[in-house]
Amino acid sequence: MGGFCGNKNILAPKKCSGEARHRGLTQNSAPGPKGADIKEFGDSESGPPLIPMIHAIEAGNKPMVAAIEGFALGGGLELALGCHYRIAHSKARLGLPEVTLGLLPAAGGSQRLPRLIGVPAALDLIITGRHVTAAEALQLGIVDQVTDHHTVDAAVKFALSVAGRPLDARRISSYSCPPVSGDLDALFEEVMRKVRRGARGAIAPVACVQAVRAAATLPYARGMERERELMATLFTSGQARALQYSFFAQRAVSRWSTPSGARWDASAPKPVRKVAVIGLGTMGRGIAVALAQAGFPVVSVETQEKQLTEAKRAVSQMLERGAKRRGVAAPLDKMSYSSNIQAVADVDLVIEAVFEDMGLKKKIFQQLSAVCKPDALLCTNTSSLDVDQLASQTRNPELVVGMHFFAPAHVMKLLEVVYGPRSSPQALATAMQLGKKMGKVSVAVGNCPGFVGNRMLKAYVEQAFFLLEEGATPELVDSALEEFGFSMGFFKVSDLSGLDVGWKVRKEDGLALPGVSTGPSARIRQGRRYSPLGDLLCQRGRFGQKTGSGWYQYGKPGGRVATPDPWLHSFLEEYRAQHGLVPRRIDPQEVLERCLYALINEGFRILEDGIAAGPEDIDCIYVFGYGWPHYRGGPMFYAAMVGLPKVLERLEHYYRAHPDVPDLQPCSLLRRLVASGSPPVQKWKEAIKKLHSQL
Ligand code: NAI
Repeated sequence: MGGFCGNKNILAPKKCSGEARHRGLTQNSAPGPKGADIKEFGDSESGPPLIPMIHAIEAGNKPMVAAIEGFALGGGLELALGCHYRIAHSKARLGLPEVTLGLLPAAGGSQRLPRLIGVPAALDLIITGRHVTAAEALQLGIVDQVTDHHTVDAAVKFALSVAGRPLDARRISSYSCPPVSGDLDALFEEVMRKVRRGARGAIAPVACVQAVRAAATLPYARGMERERELMATLFTSGQARALQYSFFAQRAVSRWSTPSGARWDASAPKPVRKVAVIGLGTMGRGIAVALAQAGFPVVSVETQEKQLTEAKRAVSQMLERGAKRRGVAAPLDKMSYSSNIQAVADVDLVIEAVFEDMGLKKKIFQQLSAVCKPDALLCTNTSSLDVDQLASQTRNPELVVGMHFFAPAHVMKLLEVVYGPRSSPQALATAMQLGKKMGKVSVAVGNCPGFVGNRMLKAYVEQAFFLLEEGATPELVDSALEEFGFSMGFFKVSDLSGLDVGWKVRKEDGLALPGVSTGPSARIRQGRRYSPLGDLLCQRGRFGQKTGSGWYQYGKPGGRVATPDPWLHSFLEEYRAQHGLVPRRIDPQEVLERCLYALINEGFRILEDGIAAGPEDIDCIYVFGYGWPHYRGGPMFYAAMVGLPKVLERLEHYYRAHPDVPDLQPCSLLRRLVASGSPPVQKWKEAIKKLHSQL
């Protein structure tokens, strides 16, 4: 009788370090706390090496049947591909997600999968790292049978039924890849072009294409050599380290804690059965969609009749589109609408998303406090207002937290959950759990202007403006940031979201003043350097894409293709001349250092203030909410990679050159971390605690 592999999951041997020659990556579902084996990355090796084991299985004379239950991802699937047959439980998920960790399937996965299911299908799975269901795996030809019953019993039965049959034709390494329709070289060139464009500097997807190309063009043994070489390059790259850090950072942020001692494992969330959204503008619509998609009945309240009618249509469309993509029924029945706030009387949690206006929000919180059940959680989606002030309008301020979503709220993964000094641990736990159920990366943050993400962004934006004053162009700044890995530089993002958004905030903050366009006070506000450039563009009606021009030219209102604008270049020249600024040549390195280190410096201040619990929290916020390139881990990880002494030295240098820019003054936590030997990023939390206790 033949053997079979697996009982619950088929997984690689426990210890999976980066030694690609011998091992594959073993990973349970990613991301998520399902007991991933990649926690052992970087550990010393132990356990049997994977590649020789897979070869031994494949070369065996008895039929080996992989019984796949749960997750067969990475090394688990590679092991299964070494077997002669594969049987999966209908609930199993399969995939080669190595690329999401900056690697490639290096235990023969990149060589066997294309031989089994063909180059295009294998490329799709390996480049994206996506998981497939058992049904899709059957359709693709990855598994031979799917069962709803006991998988191991089915595998034993299957093994008995094939006992005695010749096995040569079942050894995938002996196959040639199935021929592709059309020219193979042209196919790979096209795929490579697309991958390079989409990867924006990430090297793992490119290496995955190269490995699959080796499978399609080289004999198996040479393909394996190529797989090993490519993996060795990836493994030593900083990108793999960053992506693996990010994987664990997501787990770290779900285990939240606050300076007052509240913790995720000591705070039980309240049950949430029904939710309300107040205000169906840009954000409210997306939030309502995300809630309905997560299975919650949602009551949506919108007072403007026209908005309500439009929102109903838009929400239904978004739900239908989402359902089509996911192959499920649209949860339209989860939605109900009203123009009367009394409709929220029976909900367990409310998310307010009306205009960013403190007076209006205070009024709404007073109404909610009167209308809702006394134990209902009242949340605000404000992006900048003081959550404590809103809490003080209610009977139960301990039940008030911020739930700061990002636009579009049904797409963006990030949620900042903002707790105030009065928010109860249970309220925080409830909002964090709701975010998780909505599929968000939820990060608990303290209450301060801008919370974490927007507070850090302010320092970055300011530097971008100053660089224009000193001689840069929007194109120069944006291309440096895009080269770094952002999908769009700051000025393109600003044109896309509308210059008027920031202008409104600056006016409310007393920064954008009418009529101060000349003289020394034009570039100083509240005792520090200020650039009115954005305000001057807004005064001229240049709001970005929507008006057809902003930092770039778009041809017509609503145009999407940014082209450099000669008018803007002359405007900048005149502006500099008017303010006695002598333009200088600015190189991309300075753009990166000024924008990124100012942002990172603010990140250190946030850690020092206890607004974020650790660098992982800040890094998740930037990767999942602000387009920070995933393969660079996040700003704080990046600072650690650059080296804290270098970041400190450059900040000191720029602060000497610009003493009127306090954001460039190195934060004391950064200095103290450098003085204490620049511990690795994983040790900062501990180091910060120690430094605080010494104060
Ligand atoms: P929006 O202007 O698109 O929508 C606000 C909606 O609230 C409007 O439909 C308005 O009719 C409605 N509304 C006003 N008073 C109301 C009341 N008493 N009862 C019920 N509905 C009422 O605003 P947007 O952009 O959706 O922003 C909403 C909130 O989300 C703001 O606090 C904003 O700061 C925050 N936010 C916005 C982001 C964005 O990118 N737009 C990102 C993250 C947060």
